[in-house]
Amino acid sequence: MATALITGGTSGIGAAFARALASRGNDLVLVARDADRLDETATELKDRYGIAVETLPADLGDRAELQRVADRLASAEQPVDILVNNAGFGIRAKLLDADTTRHEQALDVMVRAVMILSAAAGRAMRPRGVGKIINVSSTAGFVTLGHYSAIKAYVTTYTEALAGELAGSGVTVTALCPGWVHTEFHQRASIRTGSIPSPMWLDADGLVKECLQDVDAGKVISIPSMRYKALIIGARHAPRGVIRAVSRLLSSGRH
Ligand SMILES: NC(=O)c1ccc[n+]([C@@H]2O[C@H](COP(=O)([O-])OP(=O)(O)OC[C@H]3O[C@@H](n4cnc5c(N)ncnc54)[C@H](OP(=O)(O)O)[C@@H]3O)[C@@H](O)[C@H]2O)c1
Repeated sequence: MATALITGGTSGIGAAFARALASRGNDLVLVARDADRLDETATELKDRYGIAVETLPADLGDRAELQRVADRLASAEQPVDILVNNAGFGIRAKLLDADTTRHEQALDVMVRAVMILSAAAGRAMRPRGVGKIINVSSTAGFVTLGHYSAIKAYVTTYTEALAGELAGSGVTVTALCPGWVHTEFHQRASIRTGSIPSPMWLDADGLVKECLQDVDAGKVISIPSMRYKALIIGARHAPRGVIRAVSRLLSSGRH
């Protein structure tokens, strides 16, 4: 049975991927920083789905630890067939803040790690002629909500470029672009969510179910739910000045 490696597989969207792929019978490799939570998640999944779960504690912002994850993806003896680059976090910091630590961590975890791990997985999967790479991006990448939008725009464009490089190889590459999802994301980043209308919230399990259908269909961009599909069609056709004005309004309600 195929093995899936999921970064950030202990919480929110990553945990939903872990449940969905386990329910399909996939074995898992889970990556996150909190080793105790990794062990708890692995035990729950093994007990519930009868699959094998390996844990790989790593901070993806640390270059040596990231390399250990890349090395695991390169293993020929224990091949990984599905990579889900999901780990990430919200950024409350402003672009002009003198302390750029959080911005740099965000680039390391949500840009550099996605690039290094996708390439490691692609190199291992291409000769086998089969594989799936899923990069968790965001609908934020279509608007201008600070550094987070710039980072997620990178993830979506990078994914499209990689899908082009791997076209015809049997390896599919998909960017998942969710809207707002109930997870630990906003609380961890101290981002206020009170102004977000309740119909705009998505449930992680439903979102992942739709994404996996898109992945199975070979789609390069997955935007779950009709409401977000419609919004993104609008965003793609609206003048950028309108997008920037709406983004400024949204940003002001979040801090
Ligand atoms: N929630 C939303 O509204 C939303 C919308 C669009 C896109 N997204 C994207 O969805 C992805 C998952 O977010 P989520 O909402 O599920 O957040 P979450 O519930 O906070 O989960 C984040 C996961 O990432 C792991 N992680 C964070 N930093 C890490 C690091 N440096 N190294 C390794 N693992 C790390 C966390 O585990 P540890 O803390 O143990 O490391 C946790 O398992 C992110 O890429 C996010 O940008 C979220």
